[in-house]
Amino acid sequence: MKNLLITGGAGFIGSHLVRRFVTKYPKINIINMDCLTYAGNLNNLKDVESQPNYRFVKVNICDEEAVNQVFAEHKIDGVIHLAAESHVDRSITDPMSFIKTNIEGTVVLLNAARKQWGNNFENKLFYHISTDEVYGSLGDEGLFTESTPYDPRSPYSASKASADFLVRAYHHTYNLPVVISNCSNNYGSHQFPEKLIPLIISNIKQNKALPVYGKGLNVRDWLYVEDHAAAIDTIFHKGKLGETYNIGGNNEWKNIDLVKLLCRIMDEKLGRNVGESEKLITFVTDRAGHDLRYAIDSSKITNGLGWSPQVSFEEGLEKTVSWYLANSQWVSEVISGEYANYYKQQYENR
Ligand code: NAD
Ligand code: TYD
Repeated sequence: MKNLLITGGAGFIGSHLVRRFVTKYPKINIINMDCLTYAGNLNNLKDVESQPNYRFVKVNICDEEAVNQVFAEHKIDGVIHLAAESHVDRSITDPMSFIKTNIEGTVVLLNAARKQWGNNFENKLFYHISTDEVYGSLGDEGLFTESTPYDPRSPYSASKASADFLVRAYHHTYNLPVVISNCSNNYGSHQFPEKLIPLIISNIKQNKALPVYGKGLNVRDWLYVEDHAAAIDTIFHKGKLGETYNIGGNNEWKNIDLVKLLCRIMDEKLGRNVGESEKLITFVTDRAGHDLRYAIDSSKITNGLGWSPQVSFEEGLEKTVSWYLANSQWVSEVISGEYANYYKQQYENR
């Protein structure tokens, strides 16, 4: 494969993936397609932007003409599709932008791949990046496997589930060579501070209230973003066409326990008295339809393709907190402007 399109490469996971591929595979041309929404930031890729095998194209994946042009001009033969609206809370207040980007945008890309590849699928791949949230919500027991029936319960997860079904339909109907992976919650550097971990780190630093939804008893499985990028790399090279792979960190945390852990790490880093940051914890009105628990059985990718997470939560959180503390300018830039209004709407009087 020579010309690989990565969509959403200026976002959180996308930028880690672009960095990995540009540096590890100098013979593959990486074309990063991103329209730079509030979540996209080219500063995330400063260190690789001048590499000869890297190109950025500012294109909205819903813009059929522009997408087709990129496929033709760059002779795209592979796609790793990450571009999406990705925040559940925003999907509750504005579902339509999720339908547009996550569903329609995915179909535009699928059609462009069909158009560019015709019936010659040799060395071609359309790899769709999805989430464990498509499986719905677990009780106290059990894990999501690849055969767990889809039961999405937020506009975000419903839009991702729709996209997954469409990708599979294109495989079944048109033989398009596809693969899908469904991953649990990622954390690491460059994550937009609307998501739990960077939001809590940023608020602790600013001595602001730490909003915990409901009683903080919801459980998420956390995976370090570079482990996710490694899993994507593995599936891209070794995954079987038409298959789905679950990716998880084997690392379940109740939100309240995670927030308290972050408070302890931050107290130490900021030289505060033990317990000082915990005083900022504020229980707020729960998220509508808040899924109780996500947990992943990743034995298929581990046993079948040899991937497993390499970074412990202790090490990953240490790196993440250190990155946010050392990059306060990055944080202040992304939380100014549109995000300031979002924050007010989302958390004021909650
Ligand atoms: P993100 O919100 O940080 O980044 C999304 C990127 O997509 C941004 O750069 C944005 O500018 C771009 N984008 C959005 N709409 C676009 C459009 N219409 N056209 C072109 N570009 C557009 O998201 P993320 O957390 O990096 O997630 C990336 C992918 O991984 C998403 O598909 C998401 O569903 C999936 N995923 C995320 C997680 C997680 O924990 N963050 C877990 C599992 C799966
Ligand atoms: P989030 O990072 O938004 O990821 P997702 O909803 O995709 O799992 O949220 C992680 C968990 O943290 C989720 O259970 C909701 C909760 N949460 C809060 O308690 N407070 C917050 O301010 C946010 C953003 C999330």
